[in-house]
Amino acid sequence: MAEQRVRWGILATGGMAATFTADLVDLPDAEVVAVASRTEASAKAFADRFGIPRAYGDWESLARDEDVDVVYVATPHAAHRTAAGLCLEAGRNVLCEKPFTLNTREAGELVALARERGVFLMEAMWMYCNPLVRRLKALVADGVIGEVRSVQADFGLAGPFPPAHRLRDPAQGGGALLDLGVYPVSFAQLLLGEPSDVAARAVLSEEGVDLQTGALLSYDSGALASVHCSITGGTPNSASVTGSLGRIDVPYGFFFPDHFVLHRDGREPEKFTADPADGPRASLQHEAREVMRALRAGETESPLVPLDGTLAVMRTLDAIRDRVGVRYPGEHPVGPAAAREVTPA
Ligand SMILES: NC(=O)c1ccc[n+]([C@@H]2O[C@H](COP(=O)([O-])OP(=O)(O)OC[C@H]3O[C@@H](n4cnc5c(N)ncnc54)[C@H](OP(=O)(O)O)[C@@H]3O)[C@@H](O)[C@H]2O)c1
Repeated sequence: MAEQRVRWGILATGGMAATFTADLVDLPDAEVVAVASRTEASAKAFADRFGIPRAYGDWESLARDEDVDVVYVATPHAAHRTAAGLCLEAGRNVLCEKPFTLNTREAGELVALARERGVFLMEAMWMYCNPLVRRLKALVADGVIGEVRSVQADFGLAGPFPPAHRLRDPAQGGGALLDLGVYPVSFAQLLLGEPSDVAARAVLSEEGVDLQTGALLSYDSGALASVHCSITGGTPNSASVTGSLGRIDVPYGFFFPDHFVLHRDGREPEKFTADPADGPRASLQHEAREVMRALRAGETESPLVPLDGTLAVMRTLDAIRDRVGVRYPGEHPVGPAAAREVTPA
């Protein structure tokens, strides 16, 4: 594979599938060779739009396509387990949209399956592949702000999202937490790891999904992370990390920043700006490149988005849902007790 273009398959034909495919077709070492939808008509329309040679009206045909190196799963989250599972079972490598799955149990099943089959699997947590976020992480790891005392991050959209929207639909894993809250939680865990305790409050919709959620993650080190998400209010979508020697502020769009500011005690603030050579701010190409780098190197998981990190984020999301009483149809109990039962190899 080292010399060849990586051949991508796209599973689902919605908003994210289109956005990611548009970014992929601009990468010279990527080739989109197939798309699958629940309907043939939609697969065909998507294939025509992006010039994709093969269009399937079912997911199994894509999973079985030996001429696909990696499948990008872009269904609503409630279908990630089934869609990604089909592909992994058939030996396909998978990049699966965030949130990885509905809950830790499903995430553990996918991770176990990928490890058993020796195939590549990664959550599409594009924030972790963003060059400026990687820079921020390295600065914090180097101790420039001392010992981390607190992290604060929020992601809220004003909507309005009508009741029929997938964000309001329990059957599709709706609510603010899984769709948007996964970013503040993943940001906190990028810097602090998995919390030892979780407290949370939420406002629920009539349908039983969370309209807004606030959570406090606590760490044995004494650090606290405060995370907030909403589908009923446009919050600042910003983040900050405070340490014993200073602070880093990331303004609007903290998960795809164009700059951040380092404040160190007794020094002028320092601004770190995205390198224009890294491409458009919202580019998904960083994560696509990371997948292709890993595949060419023969790796089955990405060190930038490790599966154990994804599982740890899922455990926190489960714990938050457990505290606020959000459970999806047909779902087993979530929360620490359920998470402990999942011990992937
Ligand atoms: N990384 C990011 O920045 C980002 C941004 C937005 C969303 N996302 C994630 O991407 C995923 C898709 O979001 P989206 O905004 O693209 O949603 P979307 O526009 O509603 O598209 C989802 C697609 O999945 C298929 N689908 C719809 N309902 C389904 C169901 N009940 N079961 C199985 N498949 C179904 C449909 O494709 P077919 O008709 O072809 O089957 C649909 O077009 C979500 O997990 C979301 O969290 C990520």
